[in-house]
Amino acid sequence: MKLPSHLTVSNNNLFIGGHDCNLLASEYGTPLYVTSEDRILQNYSDFFKALKTHYDPVRILYAAKANGNLAIFRALAQLGAGADVFSTGELRLAEIAGMPHDRLLFNGSSKTKEDLALAVEKGVTVTLDSIDELHKLDTIADESRSKAQVSFRVNPAINVPTHPKIATGLSTSKFGIPHQKIIPAYMEALSCENITPAGIHCHIGSQILATEPFVKATEVMMQLACELHDLSIRFSFVDLGGGLGIPYRHGVDKAPSYREYADAVMPVFLKGIKEMNEHPQLWVEPGRSLVADSTVLLTRVNSVKEAHRRFVNVDAGFNLLIRPTMYEAYHEIVVANKADSPCTAEYTITGPICETGDVFAEGRLLPEIKAGDLVALLDTGAYGFSMSSQYNTRPRCAEVILKGRDKSLMRRKETIEDITRTMVTPPWQDEPRRS
Ligand code: LLP
Repeated sequence: MKLPSHLTVSNNNLFIGGHDCNLLASEYGTPLYVTSEDRILQNYSDFFKALKTHYDPVRILYAAKANGNLAIFRALAQLGAGADVFSTGELRLAEIAGMPHDRLLFNGSSKTKEDLALAVEKGVTVTLDSIDELHKLDTIADESRSKAQVSFRVNPAINVPTHPKIATGLSTSKFGIPHQKIIPAYMEALSCENITPAGIHCHIGSQILATEPFVKATEVMMQLACELHDLSIRFSFVDLGGGLGIPYRHGVDKAPSYREYADAVMPVFLKGIKEMNEHPQLWVEPGRSLVADSTVLLTRVNSVKEAHRRFVNVDAGFNLLIRPTMYEAYHEIVVANKADSPCTAEYTITGPICETGDVFAEGRLLPEIKAGDLVALLDTGAYGFSMSSQYNTRPRCAEVILKGRDKSLMRRKETIEDITRTMVTPPWQDEPRRS
């Protein structure tokens, strides 16, 4: 298996960012997420440069849902990133990390009154997903005597080659406003006293391994922007969303590089703005491509069982990484204390959760595995911890972040008390039992 440059092998042990995974696992315990901050910063600056070669001003809005750890937000904020936030919680995280409000975009297909009121109060631009939402926002802005800046999310009706659960720009998808209805939507916005159209937004899906769908979406977006420009609507930003995939199967999947993405999409964008004779900011919203490959999930082998398959029972389950169960997602596996040993047998890696679907990988060819070995699941920095749960009353694990030679916890392991703290015993259970 080909490893990216921040993952190395020395004396049969797997290293991330120059740190031995085995030592990290012994020091912090398992399961454990370990993230290389340097790798995230490298990804960010590669993407930024690729876009900047074509155009200025560019803004990268980190898709907060990919990994909501504050340390990651702060690292990106320091580089000038903004964020695509999809909830009040993500907005708060971005604020705490020091991202200015004008670098945030409040996306979402089903926002509450409270979500919208917070966006108005903070002056955060809102992406609207329905006409209902437009009117709700107009009323809220009116009540607080403010103006709300908005974009509409365009559904460009594009088939995207990815898992159906993460294709969002299909005509049947719940997201966005059908592209044929976008012009009337902006016209309606113009008639609302407290609404200012500021931009236009789309996001066609995730883990996309080709540039064509992005090009098609950009064509739809620029066509709409030009038509709206003719109707005197001037945008200060055009947001092309996120979605660029990564090669989860090392050496097999081929993902477009940032450069390839930019070289494909930017000519369409530039042609559109030339036609309008305008100079809006270009916004993109990457999540996965910035953070996925920065992280490994380390998990200890509890037992190995020869049944109809050779099962390896590890101490992490879909409570900590649900992608294989939810999307049949593939993650490379390295036995971190036998990283250079020859692969001799096929193993099925399963977690401790009381569900048959709690399987990370089936029939993987790996070195001989024994109880006590350390397994590393690669590319788990996006939609890993952020989709974790406490199912089976399992406290979530710790997360460690590395920068150069430094290492630090970025989240401590939860305790059972963390789980029970929010539970309330109803008063009648304290009363003496009546017969
Ligand atoms: N912008 C919006 C509005 C989004 O909904 C998303 C992701 C992104 C940007 C970032 O997309 P990315 O660059 O990460 O592909 N849990 C799934 C992925 C769900 C993506 C949700 N939206 C997975 O584990 O594959």
